[in-house]
Amino acid sequence: MTQSSYPSTRLRRNRKSPWARALVSENTLTAADLIWPVFVIEGQNKSEAVASMPGVFRCSIDLAVERVREAADLGIPLVALFPNTDPALRNETGSEAINANNLICRAVRAIKAGVPEIGVMCDVALDPYTSHGQDGLMEGERIVNDASLEMLVKQALVQADAGCDVIAPSDMMDGRIGAIRSAFEKAGHQDVQIMAYSAKYASGFYGPFREAVGSGGLLKGDKRTYQMDPGNTDEAMREVAMDLVEGADMVMVKPGMPYLDIVSRVKREFGVPTFAYQVSGEYAMIMAAVERGWLDPKKVIPESLLAFKRAGADGILTYFAVDMAKSLRA
Ligand code: PBG
Repeated sequence: MTQSSYPSTRLRRNRKSPWARALVSENTLTAADLIWPVFVIEGQNKSEAVASMPGVFRCSIDLAVERVREAADLGIPLVALFPNTDPALRNETGSEAINANNLICRAVRAIKAGVPEIGVMCDVALDPYTSHGQDGLMEGERIVNDASLEMLVKQALVQADAGCDVIAPSDMMDGRIGAIRSAFEKAGHQDVQIMAYSAKYASGFYGPFREAVGSGGLLKGDKRTYQMDPGNTDEAMREVAMDLVEGADMVMVKPGMPYLDIVSRVKREFGVPTFAYQVSGEYAMIMAAVERGWLDPKKVIPESLLAFKRAGADGILTYFAVDMAKSLRA
């Protein structure tokens, strides 16, 4: 760092006009940085509002294809699909997750056929499919690790078979990246990328998402025996290191804005493609204040997203993706 002092140095000189600020700007946000999460439901021409996420809808596959077409035209490179599974199909083992013709697999096939130039990502975790809302299998009160891995591998395989480009394990079971990567090698899916939810914290900020996928009311207890303790940093580095050794192509930190220190440290220590998830609760907080007229969305949404770039993220999963891409184009 150079030593500088006033008045020979006046830092305001480089801020004096729009062109001067543009010239020295260190970080920028583009549509190519954005990953758009999309919630899908059964039916035709159906769209339902998610109450705790104003402006976010669950939609049937036909409408999802139309919306993803719009996202692709705006330059968004990747969409992340999440199913709201019919309650009648949810059970103890989450067996609908491994049905090769389930809602998510049909959505992947329809989007790959209708919008071939966009990437499609799918979550790997059992929570949209289980009657208890946990991400793994339960034995009594316990979420069991190794038996869950078998289900998660099968879930990843049906999604890859359907044409999914990027598999995103969000379940936080130990060993899942390695198990999925070796199953992919055997199945001829060696080109399917894995974006690991490596540092995923047991967070209160996922509430609105659980409403969107319909698992919130079902969930008893919490996810603290597998998702990370919000107080920990070194442990996040161990999670990332293991996921990379096991075959992850990209890693993710989640939630986003409350965990920018983790994003920054992951990027600095590993130098690998690093993503952050601006989760449902972060979206809800911003939108709640916007609806009350307390915050200006034109200012706070880009600022909240640029913060991820500044911290070192290569991209951001955000429910604002389409609106943000539109205003970047304007
Ligand atoms: C499923 C999953 C969750 C999110 C993404 N995948 C919820 C959870 O772990 O309970 C949260 C996303 C969001 O809040 O926007 N395992």
